[in-house]
Amino acid sequence: MIETLDAVRDDAIRRLKEGAESRYSAMHTPVLATADADVRVLVLRGFDADSWTLRFHTDSRSPKVDAIAADPRVGVLAYDAEAKVQLRLRGTGRVERDTELADSAWSESTEFARRCYLGAAPGETRDGPNSGLPNWAEGEQPTEEQLAPVRANFAVLLVKVEEIDWYWLSNDGHRRALVRRDGGRWLTP
Ligand SMILES: Cc1cc2nc3c(=O)[nH]c(=O)nc-3n(C[C@H](O)[C@H](O)[C@H](O)COP(=O)(O)O)c2cc1C
Repeated sequence: MIETLDAVRDDAIRRLKEGAESRYSAMHTPVLATADADVRVLVLRGFDADSWTLRFHTDSRSPKVDAIAADPRVGVLAYDAEAKVQLRLRGTGRVERDTELADSAWSESTEFARRCYLGAAPGETRDGPNSGLPNWAEGEQPTEEQLAPVRANFAVLLVKVEEIDWYWLSNDGHRRALVRRDGGRWLTP
C-alpha cells in the first residue's frame, strides 16, 4: 500500500524505468499528446530518473515534430491495466536531430528499426495501402550504406517531465496524487 508522496514518486519512476527497459512492460508504449489536440502511441526508449526526461525516436518529418516546434507543451499517458495504475505526465518536448545523442540513438538502433526512415514522410496520401518504403527495401534488411543517406530523417524526441498525475484504481478507495521532483500533493480521485 502506498501511503506517502515519496512512495508515489518512487512508484512512478520505477514504472517509467521499467517501461523504457522492458518491451513486456505495460508502460513500454505510452500515448503522447501534443498541444494541437493530437495523440499517438510511441515506444518509450529511455527514462532518465535524474532529469525526469523521457526519450522517444521518431521521423524528423512527422507532423508531431512540427506540432512540438509550434508549441512544446506535451502530455504522456501510460496505463498498467494489471496494476490499475495510470500515469499522466505533463511537460515539454524537444526534438534533437544533429546531436551526439541523436547520433548514438541512430547507430544503436537495429538495421531493421532504421529501415522505417528509408520511406516516405509519415502522413502522405497514397492511392492504396502501402508501407511508404521503396520497393527494393520491402521485406529486406538494409545495409549500413543504404541507411546512411536517410540519417537526416531520424530524430530523438525528449520530453522533460514537470509533473506526474498518479492514479491507482482500487476497490478499497482509489488514490490519486500529483508529484513533481521537489514536492507534490494528494488529490481526490
Ligand atoms: C505500437 C506502436 C508503436 C509505435 N512506435 C512509434 C515510435 O516509437 N515512434 C514513432 O515516431 N511512431 C511510432 N508509432 C507510430 C505513431 O503512433 C504515429 O502514427 C506516427 O509516429 C505518426 O505520428 P504523427 O502523425 O503524430 O507525427 C507507433 C505506433 C504503434 C501502433
